[in-house]
Amino acid sequence: MDIKILNQTAIQMVASSKGILALDESHGTIQKRFDSLGIEVNEENRRSYRDMLLKTNSLSNYISGAILFDETIRQKTTEGKSFPKYLNEIGIIPGIKVDTGAKPFSCHKNEKITEGLDNLPQRMDEYSNLGAKFAKWRAVITIGEDIPSSACMVANAHALARYASICQAVDIVPIVEPEVLMDGSHDINKCFEVTNITQSILFEALDKLNVNFSGIILKPNMVTSGSNCKTQSSAEEISELTIKSLENNVPKDVPGIAFLSGGQSDKSASNNLSCINKINTNPWKITFSYGRALQLEAMKKWRGDNKNNSEAQKIIGNRAYLNSLAASGKYNLEMENK
Ligand code: 13P
Repeated sequence: MDIKILNQTAIQMVASSKGILALDESHGTIQKRFDSLGIEVNEENRRSYRDMLLKTNSLSNYISGAILFDETIRQKTTEGKSFPKYLNEIGIIPGIKVDTGAKPFSCHKNEKITEGLDNLPQRMDEYSNLGAKFAKWRAVITIGEDIPSSACMVANAHALARYASICQAVDIVPIVEPEVLMDGSHDINKCFEVTNITQSILFEALDKLNVNFSGIILKPNMVTSGSNCKTQSSAEEISELTIKSLENNVPKDVPGIAFLSGGQSDKSASNNLSCINKINTNPWKITFSYGRALQLEAMKKWRGDNKNNSEAQKIIGNRAYLNSLAASGKYNLEMENK
């Protein structure tokens, strides 16, 4: 483990006014997204969609890193260059999702445990040879009647810590993602309570396994009301409680925090991120690592037809630009549709 390399990569991943593009949807997830728009699901469509996104003009002005899926890291651009090589050439750091998904958690109804530790050191060596400089592992915590259980939070935190340690051994920066889902009718205070304890258990687990905090990026959820809650909180409330949980739990030597969007609309995800940055007085860089909130509108425009590439690229380019403003607290909703 070379902590200097890890720290350098982590700092580049959260460089000022830049964030991370998550395009690491598993086959199942991309199928769901393509199906909902009537896009034919096959390997070439998955490749050309990602090719279109990554060829967006000036993308590297706003995007520091791109999270790829196992299939994508082995695929090539239309011109025949491997995606990691292409990304390096345009100044975007290639990363890779390495978990194998959130599966039912034994003896714990409605809860999930993320799998993928088996053979992870060998897979990590392979990904490193393919050009990955950082990785991602997502744990899922669900709020519901009598859940989350402490068992679920502890087991997921332990898996995240094992993954992070395996990454750091080969100088790959782990993005550590404990996602408390927005699904449900709970209010923002419940989300705060669960996010706070999830982050607390996580950092204890990372510490126990000697994970070096200056060589990780945290990818948390924002603290919001459940998506079916009657009272939806303001950006100010969201920002305040999100920062409070981070301040309670995240060591100051963590270089950066890159939020997931988790089903928020693209505008809310930008607005909340900007508000969080406006009130943040902590040393961490705070930015985005969005999937849906960066891509969905562009995917709708693309719809499986490369004739729509330039229109779709305008949309994702603008979204990436607006989120880069949000990463410095300079976005506001009036900037939409200009
Ligand atoms: P969303 O921004 O769509 O939540 O995706 C980010 C991600 O990488 C989830 O693991």
